[in-house]
Amino acid sequence: MPSASDPVTIVVIGASGDLARKKIFPALFALYAQGFLPPDFRIVGFARSAMDHPTFRTRIMEHLTCRYVPGERCADRMQEFLSRCWYRVGDYGSMDAFLGLYEMIRELEAGPVTNRLFYLAIPPSVFLSTARSIGNAGLVACEASSPWSRVVIEKPFGNDRESSDLLVQELGHVFTEDQTYRIDHYLGKEMIQNLMVLRFANQVFEPLWNRRYIDHVSITWAENLTTEGRGGYFDGFGIIRDVMQNHLLQMLALATMECPADLNPTHVRDAKVQLLKAIEPASIDRAVFGQYGPGQVDGRAFLGYRDDPTVPPVSRTPTYAAVVLHIHNERWKGVPFFLCAGKGLSVRRTEIRIRYKVVKNNPFCRPLNCPSACPPANELVIRVQPDEAVILKVVNKVPGLELTMEPQALDLLYHDTFHQLLIPDAYERLLLDVLQGDRSLFIRRDELAAAWDVFTPLLHAMETQTVEPIHYAFGSDGPPEGLALAEQFGIGPA
Ligand SMILES: NC(=O)c1ccc[n+]([C@@H]2O[C@H](COP(=O)([O-])OP(=O)(O)OC[C@H]3O[C@@H](n4cnc5c(N)ncnc54)[C@H](OP(=O)(O)O)[C@@H]3O)[C@@H](O)[C@H]2O)c1
Repeated sequence: MPSASDPVTIVVIGASGDLARKKIFPALFALYAQGFLPPDFRIVGFARSAMDHPTFRTRIMEHLTCRYVPGERCADRMQEFLSRCWYRVGDYGSMDAFLGLYEMIRELEAGPVTNRLFYLAIPPSVFLSTARSIGNAGLVACEASSPWSRVVIEKPFGNDRESSDLLVQELGHVFTEDQTYRIDHYLGKEMIQNLMVLRFANQVFEPLWNRRYIDHVSITWAENLTTEGRGGYFDGFGIIRDVMQNHLLQMLALATMECPADLNPTHVRDAKVQLLKAIEPASIDRAVFGQYGPGQVDGRAFLGYRDDPTVPPVSRTPTYAAVVLHIHNERWKGVPFFLCAGKGLSVRRTEIRIRYKVVKNNPFCRPLNCPSACPPANELVIRVQPDEAVILKVVNKVPGLELTMEPQALDLLYHDTFHQLLIPDAYERLLLDVLQGDRSLFIRRDELAAAWDVFTPLLHAMETQTVEPIHYAFGSDGPPEGLALAEQFGIGPA
């Protein structure tokens, strides 16, 4: 396999868009600044918006940062990087436009062996026509090896199991599964990558990581923002498709799967698939849907979801969902997993909370044998964002002559412990992996199908029964029914 030092052409389709400008180009510059791009590379942006090369470079520059090259050298490094960026205007479904792109790329590519990476940073509605145009224009190498062609596609991968299967099948006519990198950027986050390390490289966790010792697990994704001008996109998908079916389910899989034999990408993904297949599909009687209405935060008024001009005024799309899942395997039988995701909430927080069972025959219960008078159970909190942290809550004696106990936190706060290190953006990690051909952090076809199987019956039930989401005020903690659902399964508030 050619190494990442071989020449590469990176083609960003949808280069005028939000993701390309805010994430992809800054991540590519970060890789360049750290010496991770091969010496011979070029980046070609493609989209319908009319732009010349200088305008394109100016737009890219707006979001580049000097975090990896502070000081005077930064401006020069940016100019060097931008001088390798080119732009081509064209329609996504037009083979002629892609033939023009092909000619441009061939002129820019100096040597005969040039790998090509295609990043589809476009709405899902144009995925297929774009992929076909790329294929029909002869841009994709058929060989698995030198020179390689790889495609990165962004979620959402379909709307449900059936549409996802169709998309996979159709894209498969252009790119093989080995050439396809389905990105879930949560998998590139530091703390998510740390999940396997925490679990499998520490003796203190894994022996207790099962139904005998763990009472329940909560996985929360909370955002204190509106749809931020992306209401039109969001309304077609909703919070389950946008966050839960991918980010939260991936977190759940990594937190609960069996230990793979080694770190080979196939074995890691096999372990995740096996786990996903053991999850009982989410059901409507163990789910709560909400939608934020108008609210006030610090004296500032926020519009409700339906007041967003890009959202239909009668939209039933949930901006909040809570579900309880169960995993039918020996390790997790009977343990409830509470997944909760919401926009327009009071805080921004993504975390996994693992609540252990209370100690049996605890001699510190006062009075003895009275469970409600016992010290609280241990809890392990893995905070993904903001402020990455691992916090283990233990019961501790308060110093003094009296026997007083309090839960205390053994905490690993990244901003204290690793303050001298720069935490890479998820897209930096993932783009580097694509260039190096490492597929561990990308979603395999059967993994995607298994993830849709968990949520497709719930989504269909919600849509056929036209469930009206429960209203909650912007800036609140979401509908109280979400907490009530958790309580039904013995899960208290965070
Ligand atoms: N933005 C994010 O933070 C984010 C995060 C995770 C995943 N994603 C996914 O990444 C992809 C790109 O996201 P994005 O936010 O960059 O999207 P975007 O800004 O809405 O669209 C990207 C580009 O696609 C073209 N486009 C937009 N709507 C189109 C339409 N209806 N038909 C044809 N072309 C259209 C536009 O370029 P031209 O008009 O110039 O052709 C636009 O600049 C999407 O699949 C999205 O779900 C985005």
